[in-house]
Amino acid sequence: MVTINFVQPDGSVQKVNAVIGTTIMETAVQNGVKGIDADCGGACACATCHVYIAEDWVEKVESASSMETDMLEFAAMPAAASRLSCQMKVTSDLEGLVVNVPSQQC
Ligand code: FES
Repeated sequence: MVTINFVQPDGSVQKVNAVIGTTIMETAVQNGVKGIDADCGGACACATCHVYIAEDWVEKVESASSMETDMLEFAAMPAAASRLSCQMKVTSDLEGLVVNVPSQQC
């Protein structure tokens, strides 16, 4: 287990335990994180699991695949730190990861 911090647009933080090998999206949905709808169930086909990786973490997470990058164009207000949380596997390296939930999804 690792701890993932989901930051809502109002600044509130939801710390949740994530099982290694699952995805950040699955972790969010299982813990009722507001703003992560994941309409396609993780098929990289909806962009409703969009998050912004916190600045301190951007260099520490793996890069997005070309398929993810293409789908991010359909996300609300994409930015350099945007990721689709369904495409991010939970690993031990992500202990303490901070992701911001876009205000447009809440
Ligand atoms: Fe649909 Fe991530 S859950 S793209």
